[in-house]
Amino acid sequence: MDKSKNMKNLKDKVEWPTSDFSRVPYEIFFDQDFYELEMEKIFQGPTWNYLAHSCEIPNEGDFVTNWIGDVNIIVNRTANGDIHAFKNSCSHRGTRIVDEIRGNSTRHVCPYHLWTFNLEGNLASVPLEKGLKGKGGMPPCFEKENHNLRKLRVETIGGMIFATFSEETEPLLDYLGPHCQSQISRLLDQRTPKVTGYMRQMIEGNWKLYNENVRDPYHASLLHLFQVSFGIQQPTMKGGIKMDKDTKNTWNHSILSDDDNTSSVDLAAAYEGTDKYDPNIKLADPAIANVPLDLDDGYKTTLLSMFPTSVLAQVDNTYAIRHLRPKGPGKVELNITYLGFEEDTEEQAFGKKLTANFIGPSGYISMEDGEALRLEQDGLKMRAGDHSVLEMGGIGEIADTDYLSQEISIRGFWSHYHKLMGFEG
Ligand code: FES
Ligand SMILES: [Fe+2]
Repeated sequence: MDKSKNMKNLKDKVEWPTSDFSRVPYEIFFDQDFYELEMEKIFQGPTWNYLAHSCEIPNEGDFVTNWIGDVNIIVNRTANGDIHAFKNSCSHRGTRIVDEIRGNSTRHVCPYHLWTFNLEGNLASVPLEKGLKGKGGMPPCFEKENHNLRKLRVETIGGMIFATFSEETEPLLDYLGPHCQSQISRLLDQRTPKVTGYMRQMIEGNWKLYNENVRDPYHASLLHLFQVSFGIQQPTMKGGIKMDKDTKNTWNHSILSDDDNTSSVDLAAAYEGTDKYDPNIKLADPAIANVPLDLDDGYKTTLLSMFPTSVLAQVDNTYAIRHLRPKGPGKVELNITYLGFEEDTEEQAFGKKLTANFIGPSGYISMEDGEALRLEQDGLKMRAGDHSVLEMGGIGEIADTDYLSQEISIRGFWSHYHKLMGFEG
């Protein structure tokens, strides 16, 4: 079904009653038609999508497979060091060619009839192309170059490899904007990144709920009591959000300040009556909350949310790339790649291992995000025809803030989503 033609019907299903996106229709989180339209308009549209870090494929033939929406992609390195990405679907009869998540191969051979593709995604050989003993084979008009794999445009920044299906997507640096560029440079360009591990978390919620969550410092000090109780992120910290020109990408950051010495007193007052904050609670082993930051700029958290499904995160001294794989309207798989640096001392490497326990399916901080999103997905289905309310931090203009408790950058996400999906006009 051509979803574009049915956009009018879909548009009629929902209302966006405010032009500042402070109201979001609930149907777009659970309706299959909107999900399918997102696959076309967003994931196949003018967006850059994270695939891998270049340190995962250092040598010729190294490959990783990853997802852009519902589409599986092979990304690999050729002999001259270039990186290529193509759809993991055979140009003969559509079979998925590579079934591994990562590996090394000088070529990709489809398991069905052994059509073989080189590392640039070009069809290199077709068994029995000329037939046998003068019989059979492909017709004379068959040209291998007409049957290469579907190739994607690829660009990198800080070793992060991004790809896009669309010829219309602007260059990656323009797409990301100045704040993402400078933070990627700050986190990944000064040292030599290496992967220290992977984690996967299945979340029973729509992929856009995670995008809201990661742009939502409002919840950080309320849902994540571990952060507040042990000084990882507190509402007394300085910080704020900065967005790109389209308001689709957000840099959300918190900074240690002198006020933090007295924060437990302020916090006890702020949480009074909620039974949610106990200034006397202590960790039996406080090591995890006292890992020194590698960088001396005081940033406790840096969350770069890049539309539509990528996050580069520094939480305390944990460095990680997060990537979302939507699996239908009600489910999303969160893939986390943990990073360290070749230059790390033994102590720094140990500290990163310790703080890796913050994030992931059983992380001290993010375990409850998965649960909150499951409950949100469960509850919002009961409100068809209604809208969520995004007013914290102010309504109206979508602009950067120098404070943390806000939902403005979530409205920024919706503004771009609304445009790409074609709700306008
Ligand atoms: S489907 Fe791939 S070679 Fe036939
Ligand atoms: Fe969270």
